[in-house]
Amino acid sequence: MRLYIADMLRAQKKHISFHTPGHKRAGADITELSYSDNLYAPHGVLACAERDVARILGAAKSFLLTDGSTSGVYSMLFAVRKAGARRVAAPVFSHPSVAHACEALGMTLVPIPQTTRYGVPVQPSAEAAGEALAQADALLLTSPDYYGFFAPLPAAKAAAEAAGKPLLVDGAHGSHLHGTPLHAGAYADLWVDGVHKSLPALTQGAVVSANAAWAERLGESVRYFRTTSPSYPILASVEYAVKYPIADAGEAERFKAEAGALPNDDWTKVLIPFGARCAEAQAYLEAHGVYPELNDGNYLMFYLSPCTKRAELKKLRRLLAQMPRGTVAEDAPAGAIPIYSEGL
Ligand SMILES: Cc1ncc(COP(=O)(O)O)c(C=O)c1O
Repeated sequence: MRLYIADMLRAQKKHISFHTPGHKRAGADITELSYSDNLYAPHGVLACAERDVARILGAAKSFLLTDGSTSGVYSMLFAVRKAGARRVAAPVFSHPSVAHACEALGMTLVPIPQTTRYGVPVQPSAEAAGEALAQADALLLTSPDYYGFFAPLPAAKAAAEAAGKPLLVDGAHGSHLHGTPLHAGAYADLWVDGVHKSLPALTQGAVVSANAAWAERLGESVRYFRTTSPSYPILASVEYAVKYPIADAGEAERFKAEAGALPNDDWTKVLIPFGARCAEAQAYLEAHGVYPELNDGNYLMFYLSPCTKRAELKKLRRLLAQMPRGTVAEDAPAGAIPIYSEGL
């Protein structure tokens, strides 16, 4: 499939830069020039890339972000705030950007209670989400979450539709699911794809999208939270990543079963229980050149993507087989779930 932004960057003529950035080395890291389009009013390559991305993600409109999913969360919440929403129901283990955006936008959070099981957060039930939504003007769920579990999106969509309230999904960890019935875009009115986390985009590359009913408002809102100096390498990488072939989950799922991972819903998150031996296991792996995503005191989490190589999984499998496991604390130990624990 054609890559509009990368092709434009490749086709650039060598030129003398009397424009930003100050390094003056005209390469991929350019600014908005006569030929490189403008993210605030796209009409050229960026418009074409956003149109393709929207089609692939199942959106009426998608907006490329170079400021991470965080700016997408702010944009979604501002869009519903502008439409009159003041109270947002969201699980207690939501990413801190949800609470921060609500505070900044003068919105009130209606926390959806969550527990932990095997030391990881349990997604709220459809009933709990529905009850919280009854007290709120919008529902924001995270799916999949950092530990690879899905929110009850079909039921949440039905409840939100019945109540005439918008469903927002933080899909910071789910962009590899596009085109499947597990993707946020199959259910949400507005959603974020954190492309840089599970697809081959540069760090901070993300997309925020909306269906037809919310596209215009999201377009207005996104202007408040995107940088006015977007990074072209990041923009090009987001288009590339969304167009990257979808991976087959089969091999990762077999790996998880063989490695004794905690069973979860999402092939890209592999949770190996080490309990009190987490630090020891992490040090051993790192001494062998293998770095996990997370050590939460219960699990080492290994984050896969379509770019994970078979040989790398093989090496990890071999190392894991040599390492003693500890016992997972049923309740999350102090210091566990480090990102989500700062939530609501
Ligand atoms: C669930 C969730 N939402 C949003 C974010 C924010 O994403 P970003 O770091 O791309 O801004 C994160 C980051 O870890 C996250 O885990």
